[in-house]
Amino acid sequence: METAEIGGTPKGGVKRLTLTDLDRQVRDWFIDAAKAAGCSISIDEMGNIFATRPGRDNSLAPVACGSHLDTQPTGGKFDGILGVLAGLELIRTLNDVGYETEAPIMVVNWTNEEGSRFAPAMVSSGVYAGAFDLDYAYGRTDREGERLGDALAAIGYRGEDPVGQQKIGSFFELHIEQGPILEAEETTIGVVTGAQGTRWYDVTIVGRESHAGTTPMALRRDALAGAAELILAVERIAKEQSPPGVGTVGEVTIAEPSRNVVPGSVRLTVDMRHPAADALAAMDRQMREALTEIGTRRSLDVDADEIWYSSPLEFDPDCVGLVRAAAERQGLSHQDIVSGAGHDACYLARVLPTAMVFVPCRDGISHNEVEHAELEHCAAGANVLMHAVLARANAPAAG
Ligand code: GLV
Ligand code: MN
Ligand code: MN
Repeated sequence: METAEIGGTPKGGVKRLTLTDLDRQVRDWFIDAAKAAGCSISIDEMGNIFATRPGRDNSLAPVACGSHLDTQPTGGKFDGILGVLAGLELIRTLNDVGYETEAPIMVVNWTNEEGSRFAPAMVSSGVYAGAFDLDYAYGRTDREGERLGDALAAIGYRGEDPVGQQKIGSFFELHIEQGPILEAEETTIGVVTGAQGTRWYDVTIVGRESHAGTTPMALRRDALAGAAELILAVERIAKEQSPPGVGTVGEVTIAEPSRNVVPGSVRLTVDMRHPAADALAAMDRQMREALTEIGTRRSLDVDADEIWYSSPLEFDPDCVGLVRAAAERQGLSHQDIVSGAGHDACYLARVLPTAMVFVPCRDGISHNEVEHAELEHCAAGANVLMHAVLARANAPAAG
């Protein structure tokens, strides 16, 4: 509740876009709190923050947990930060009882998980995992044309450490589910076995600006009308693959909007997801076919640039098993679940053993200011996170 005041909105949500001054404030808050809990801090060139509590054997790679502190423009109090604060609470709890782990424990804040201001999402865990290089990440621009690398420097969080220098043995991420399944099943813990795939596109549709009063309907090359057809095509394609397929157009921009000009140039984003790679590939094909057909029929120049593909994935069976065992040991109801959202854990899973813990959120609503999770569920999730992390950090081949 304290950090939710940093960027708090009148409707009770949080608007804390990545690499804004509000992001700086919450990062400063996190670093102060982690230092007060005895952690050492390091920051890499992507602004990822690593807070480490030493173990008995500091030659072992830390067992890490964490998530992200940035939010969507209509964000809530839980998406992301729950996983960071649970890590902090884990460390405070170990301090309170004087508990030493074999391997060090680390809490991480990954920069720009949301991908709202700078696409794609999870870009910094992506650099950590080798999916993107640093120059690509620095060169991402927001709507005003500001580069990610400059925004990072502007808030004082372009760190010195090369990305990847901070070794991580394994990674656990606690997050709200962001969907309706756990609540509907009255289950407290989601044991996340994997995540669905995502494809993001920047689509451009170009027609011709012309006078709204004098251009006969038959002579128009209206880019926005073409975009409207594509939006409905994305909805139809996703519905045909649903459940579990989903498709969204979240941004539409007319280049030079004016009430009495037929729109000549429109840019829109498409987000399509499915847990099966072949089904997602079929959605990709159908969307491109629909776009080409719209362009030909309406004399519009069209282009779909796929700017991001995050493939469907499975988390590490051993780490997933530790999450399940921790839920069982706590006597908590649990079920296996596949993540509909993207998470930093998805990139980390490519390079190190990784798992996630989900807790329910009210009405399954997220990326919305009313997003809410019960304290009891957050506490249960934090306990499961702690026991999974401890089991890993004390295992003979810890890391
Ligand atoms: C991240 O929030 C996503 O879009 O899944
Ligand atoms: Mn998140
Ligand atoms: Mn999110």
